Amino acid sequence: MKVLGISASPRLKGNSDLLLRQALAGAESAGAKIEYVRLAELKISPCIECNACYKTGRCVIEDDYQMLIQKVIDADRLIFATPIFFMAVSAQAKLFIDRCQCLWANKYVLKKPPITNDRPLGGRRAMVIAVGGSKSKKMFDSIRLTMKYFLDCLDMHYQANLFVNKIDTKGVIEAHLSAANEAYRLGRDLALPATPLSEKPFDVELI
Ligand SMILES: Cc1cc2nc3c(=O)[nH]c(=O)nc-3n(C[C@H](O)[C@H](O)[C@H](O)COP(=O)(O)O)c2cc1C
Repeated sequence: MKVLGISASPRLKGNSDLLLRQALAGAESAGAKIEYVRLAELKISPCIECNACYKTGRCVIEDDYQMLIQKVIDADRLIFATPIFFMAVSAQAKLFIDRCQCLWANKYVLKKPPITNDRPLGGRRAMVIAVGGSKSKKMFDSIRLTMKYFLDCLDMHYQANLFVNKIDTKGVIEAHLSAANEAYRLGRDLALPATPLSEKPFDVELI
């Protein structure tokens, strides 16, 4: 069981990053092999909408995207953590997500088989962590929608969300014990093969 954690915050040990580390610790406690990647340390250019991928299913831009998408394809589980920026995912997250347009093309234009390496859809699952500073709850709507379509392109079942609001200053999430506990629990459950597939994402909202 390989679990990949992608941290989309520009802040090292920012709030979403710390929750991701808790979730990965939970996955490791369930026996998974974990890997952590920080988008802010990678060079990922924006999608240039050249549509070359409509012919090949592959992105023509050679940068760290190519390495990261291979890790995502090889993973059995994905934990994607983002801060809320202007009611949406961070810029670092959006750069990576948009480059996955080639997977959309692979699936819906070229109608090629899924990129699941012969593993069934339920075998590849993902959870999302998002943290916002304000008391708004609406900001999580945009995360749900973006991640639904993103995970569909990745052929990953959208298993769970952990959403936390009113968390702003860097690192204050460390004092939020229930958020840390939920991240650990959801990460562990995600990595346990016996955890039933959720019909729609199982939500934990600490708001
Ligand atoms: C550019 C920017 C935009 C932000 N936009 C929002 C927002 O729309 N709603 C909100 O609740 N918080 C917003 N915030 C606050 C962050 O979501 C908050 O500080 C969060 O804890 C950051 O998570 P991180 O430490 O994982 O990066 C914004 C912060 C920045 C820097």
